Amino acid sequence: MASTTPQYVTQESDGAQSSLQEMAKRHLWMHFTRMSAYDDAEVPIITHGEGCYVFDEHGKRYFDGLSALFCVNAGHGRAEIADAMAEQAKDLGFFTNWSYAHPKAIELAARIAGLAPGDLNRVFFTSGGSEAVEAALKLCRSYHHKRGEAGRYKLIAREIAYHGTTMGALSATGIPDLRTPFEPLMPGGHHVANTNSYHWPEDRDPLWAADAIEEKILFEGPETVSCVILEPVQNAGGCFTPQEGYWQRVREICDKYGVLLISDEVICSWGRLGHYFGAQRYDYQPDIITTAKGLTSAYSPMGAVIVSDKVAEPFMEGTNLFMHGITFGGHPVSAAAAMANLDIFEREDLPGNVLEHEAEFRGLLDGLRDLPIVGDVRGAGYFHAIELVKDQDTKESFDDDESEWLLRGFLSGALYENGLICRADDRGDPVIQLSPPLIAKSEELHEIEGILRTVLTEASKQMAAR
Ligand SMILES: Cc1ncc(COP(=O)(O)O)c(C=O)c1O
Repeated sequence: MASTTPQYVTQESDGAQSSLQEMAKRHLWMHFTRMSAYDDAEVPIITHGEGCYVFDEHGKRYFDGLSALFCVNAGHGRAEIADAMAEQAKDLGFFTNWSYAHPKAIELAARIAGLAPGDLNRVFFTSGGSEAVEAALKLCRSYHHKRGEAGRYKLIAREIAYHGTTMGALSATGIPDLRTPFEPLMPGGHHVANTNSYHWPEDRDPLWAADAIEEKILFEGPETVSCVILEPVQNAGGCFTPQEGYWQRVREICDKYGVLLISDEVICSWGRLGHYFGAQRYDYQPDIITTAKGLTSAYSPMGAVIVSDKVAEPFMEGTNLFMHGITFGGHPVSAAAAMANLDIFEREDLPGNVLEHEAEFRGLLDGLRDLPIVGDVRGAGYFHAIELVKDQDTKESFDDDESEWLLRGFLSGALYENGLICRADDRGDPVIQLSPPLIAKSEELHEIEGILRTVLTEASKQMAAR
């Protein structure tokens, strides 16, 4: 681990704002952020990290219960990844993958192909997750086009799912608030029910959500449908796991109608669910995997589209090509970061650590059900959510005002003040999401539970008093 000398610690004894605070408020446009929230409050400025922890500009330590944004899988402060990046930058800071190759992209592509399930042997690099999804959607359309089925342009995704924010990826994203301001989107995005069974009637067929995909394909006309894009465990809405047999049924449906299956593993790959890929956890074979984040443990931006031989084949013949590219796809410094990251994964068996501790993690979170505000606990591996409810027995959720107060008025601030970074979110029903670095063991998992218990106990009390 790197030394943690805080280079940016500011210690204004008179309470004056640090110059970083002033510059952040004046110039930095933070993503998905209500900037006015910081008019009278400090911007949280994180300066350095070590292992499962990060530190702010005042030197205060936080448990990074979200791996930054579901991505610093190997933990913070890994000097060997930084060193690998520096070495690569000295040799070849950048060269393109447009008609050229370089050793690190080649080695990484081969390594990914070796780890990916089945015949997913061809790797197209991007700079991040949205670009990977964007490329995968274009690849599917282009695949059908090359096979004489140009009418297949529609995609089927799930309600409340997040697949990114670029215009193509956004048409797969199923969160109305994210879509509406930018409509019209890329045409052809259609949505079906997700696998969140917490509010389902008890007698519902467990494969109801899988069958909804077939119904949608039939409704739209199979000859118009290009692909189905789903996450192994859906992030937005709070870690919706698949029902037993869900993925096998989806695979069957896709095969029946000639539709390609994309497993969007921007979060769910690289050990998050205890396996290199989410598809391995649930034992299915996608045509394409999209990934990013944990591939480099986010030490450098990188995404990838991992493609089966079947889908790649039409692009490998004669004068054919995939008419798509981005400057930084396969960036050598990012590829070097990914190689060093995967060395750590293998040496420390990070997926194995997740499998070893996930039951304990789940048990600790399940233990919070004694708090009246805790409704559901769900997820897999080191990727879990707690759904917050008004009434445990009826599963009644909070209304918009209550949810706004609970999540933004209380929980986000209280969790942070108590030293836990995690996500309090209401893109579906209100949830707290946890996605710790894959190096976390018993002690760290107990620390998460301890802070959650303190804060959720207070939230229950305050909610009851409102
Ligand atoms: C499943 C999924 N797909 C795509 C994306 C978009 O990735 P990025 O933010 O790197 O563009 C995300 C981001 O969280 C994601 O979770």
